[in-house]
Amino acid sequence: MKKIVVLISGNGSNLQSIIDACQQNRINGQVCAVFSNNANAYGLQRAEYAGIPTHFLNPKEYSNRADYDLALLTALDRYQPDLVVLAGYMRILSPGFVQHYRGRLINIHPSLLPKYPGLHTHRKAIENGDQEHGTSVHFVTEELDGGPIVLQAKVPIFAGDQEEDVIRRVQTQEHNIYPLVIGWFLNERLRMDDNIAIMDGKILPPQGYASE
Ligand code: GAR
Repeated sequence: MKKIVVLISGNGSNLQSIIDACQQNRINGQVCAVFSNNANAYGLQRAEYAGIPTHFLNPKEYSNRADYDLALLTALDRYQPDLVVLAGYMRILSPGFVQHYRGRLINIHPSLLPKYPGLHTHRKAIENGDQEHGTSVHFVTEELDGGPIVLQAKVPIFAGDQEEDVIRRVQTQEHNIYPLVIGWFLNERLRMDDNIAIMDGKILPPQGYASE
């Protein structure tokens, strides 16, 4: 059975969608551990309900990011993960961590990358008058929110939408596309070579699999 480790910081709704997909055999693998930088992350409870080991590493106990990430990497490697999944993990990772897991580290970001890297993406899309927003699953490289895109999903933005409306719409899509991509990776249909995403032996276009 292929092993997934998930890193979270908060609610963990994406984690839940991955746990559910494993239990329903939509993903040929299992979540063998969940790590958080936030002791109060609700996702830790979700993991416990599912019988998955959880780890909280307190950033305040480390003097710098590299030390924290080394401790994280050391604890994480005990699980020998095939894939490390960032699911609302809100800490920037050090280059050493990213290099160690190169090609088996993926992230979901709530925007149609390369548009809106960073924070508050939904608010920015509304403020800019965008008529659509979305989410991107991508391999993680040293460039923040900049690794090769595997799959995107779009949602409409309607007149009068509040930030919460767009967040909810985007998250519904995230819960569909993240398990799908994880399944592709664990079934060895998807890989990253030289910072390029390759699916079924073909180079993916810049906007990923479902590009228009
Ligand atoms: C998700 O919408 C994810 O795209 C976003 O955090 C949310 C976590 O929700 N990630 C980022 O912003 C990373 N830069 P969840 O904890 O309910 O899965």
